[in-house]
Amino acid sequence: MSIEQLAEIAQAMVAPGKGIIAIDESTGTIKKRFDSVGVECTEENRRAYREMLLTTPNLSQHISGAILFDETLRQSTRDGVPFAKVMMDNGIIPGIKVDKGTHALAGFPGEVVTEGLDGLRARLEEYYKLGARFAKWRAVINIGDDIPSGTCIEANSHALARYAALCQEQGLVPMVEPEVIMDGSHDIDTCYDVTEVTLRSLFGSLYEHNVMLEGTILKASMVLPGSTCSDKASIEEVAAETLRCLKSTVPATLPGIVFLSGGQSDADATAHLNAMNLAGPNPWPLSFSYGRAMQSAALQIWSKDIAGNIGPAQAMVFERARANGLAALGEWKG
Ligand code: 13P
Repeated sequence: MSIEQLAEIAQAMVAPGKGIIAIDESTGTIKKRFDSVGVECTEENRRAYREMLLTTPNLSQHISGAILFDETLRQSTRDGVPFAKVMMDNGIIPGIKVDKGTHALAGFPGEVVTEGLDGLRARLEEYYKLGARFAKWRAVINIGDDIPSGTCIEANSHALARYAALCQEQGLVPMVEPEVIMDGSHDIDTCYDVTEVTLRSLFGSLYEHNVMLEGTILKASMVLPGSTCSDKASIEEVAAETLRCLKSTVPATLPGIVFLSGGQSDADATAHLNAMNLAGPNPWPLSFSYGRAMQSAALQIWSKDIAGNIGPAQAMVFERARANGLAALGEWKG
């Protein structure tokens, strides 16, 4: 695959007014989500839930792609059509989560490093054959007393760069996700500093590993006060600080940046994205790759009657896609 082809996929992922729906929860994470609404976490329920999401009528009006978990990429609709085919037929680019989750970073209490590089080349080759055209890897940076350490940031950046280079070699667009976690009592300035040093390290590593930025998407966390910080920030402040941080660290050759929601309310996630686009023009399209902020309301509805509430749940998925799609244009009115 040429860099031009990778760039074309990356640009399609952030087409105007479109974003990504992240439905790549590992089996453990989706169990937590299902437990919270009283749905049993069986393979069939996971399949049925993902079918509900992916077959939402007219989803591609506001959604360019979806990130799947390994299990989902191998599953099909009730009628036996592979999800990847359903997506491609509907103009939604299939993506795949390829990391193997976070593990304690030895020697650094409270810090984690993402694993999954061993055997990744072969897995990417298979995912491409199954229809995936982009791949996500999530690094986790925790904020706390004396953390993050430089070692943790570097270890995660190095892994992200190695995965991204392998993706491009195998014809997939890497969606690099260094998530600075919202949990904690830190203030917005601390989040700014940690996000800045994390992104600086990440783009340094991508450069050292010959990753072509034209065929790469950044999945970023917003610059926010910690979830238990007493000093709350306004929508405008979050938007301004996030933009200032991104502009000082992310090269303009990158085709686009999408945000994770990270535990923000649905309304905040949409309002923050809208405010950043209203403040444009920016060097890159800014859109969304929300998991919880795309799904939570629909999951609630679906869980009340998983066979009977498919239509109402899909209407909610569409509504969240529409709101975030408008926010990606700075046209969301609340
Ligand atoms: P949230 O939007 O729920 O943070 O999930 C996005 C995601 O893909 C995290 O890796």
